[in-house]
Amino acid sequence: NWKLTGYIERTIEEIRTKVGSDKVILGLSGGVDSSVAAVLIHKAIGDQLQCIFVDTGLLRLDEGRKVMENYGEHFHMKIDMVDAADRFLDKLKGVSDPEEKRKIIGKEFVAVFDEEAHKFEGARFLAQGTIYPDVIESQSVKGPSAVIKSHHNVGGLPEEMKMELLEPLRELFKDEVRKVGEELGIAHHLVYRHPFPGPGLGIRILGEVDREKVAILQKADDIFIEELYKNKLYETVSQAFVVLLPVKSVGVMGDERTYEYTCVVRSANTIDFMTATFSKLPWDFLEKVSNRIINEVQGINRVAYDISSKPPATIEWE
Ligand code: XMP
Repeated sequence: NWKLTGYIERTIEEIRTKVGSDKVILGLSGGVDSSVAAVLIHKAIGDQLQCIFVDTGLLRLDEGRKVMENYGEHFHMKIDMVDAADRFLDKLKGVSDPEEKRKIIGKEFVAVFDEEAHKFEGARFLAQGTIYPDVIESQSVKGPSAVIKSHHNVGGLPEEMKMELLEPLRELFKDEVRKVGEELGIAHHLVYRHPFPGPGLGIRILGEVDREKVAILQKADDIFIEELYKNKLYETVSQAFVVLLPVKSVGVMGDERTYEYTCVVRSANTIDFMTATFSKLPWDFLEKVSNRIINEVQGINRVAYDISSKPPATIEWE
């Protein structure tokens, strides 16, 4: 790939020249783009880079700990981890409309990030993992999907911060970002992670969100993802996750009657995320996932598999 030959060396030089002895702040999400951007910038300027990781309380199981382990310990990056779960969950109390939840989460994210970034006053640059498709998307007139769901990413500068942007991945497509990531020494499984929406589990818990539901969903989702990896299926699907429904049904466990939540296992195959088909996962695999979720996750006694494609369904449920 002509574009990637010498890309890392060249970009590192560019970053050094641009940044000089100034400081850089980066919002690390644990996703592929911000992680690759962080490692690349860190390689260029070391401790002049300060990462901020906001735990919204709506992330996947153990996400904060894993990010600290993978990037803090392994790459020795400076990461400021903010536990903002209470703030997000408080703001979401009583709210069940999907778009309203998105707005609240997006707004709170900017507020938390902004407050945190102020602790590192004197930083001249804000780094972002913007990739080429993001650049194109923000230039084009928003299509219908953008209207249907106000996709939020960590985009945009907090107004008063007046920082300069540093976006070293701006020219790269996703597959190129992954190659760069692997070349930088980021573990394969991290570089090939499925996308995860900004509002996180906030839009995968249908209706009202609370701490208990988050804990239930995190466990169920983790089992599904773990089984996908174990059975070498993870990279055969584009995005896989579990959704928690606000529906209880009757079940039986031993001699006991149970009345607990239903969850939906969702897996989609897609090239561009605009259209998608449901993944035709093997029955015995789904049986294993279902059995494990019901046996291991207290609060769920029924598992359904989503067999809808997009359109007319969307990949997420909200
Ligand atoms: P849908 O559900 O619209 O999802 O078929 C298409 C892709 O977009 C992701 N998605 C989001 N990402 N903020 C994000 O950052 C959002 O509000 C959001 N909604 C959906 C979804 O996970 C899938 O990859």
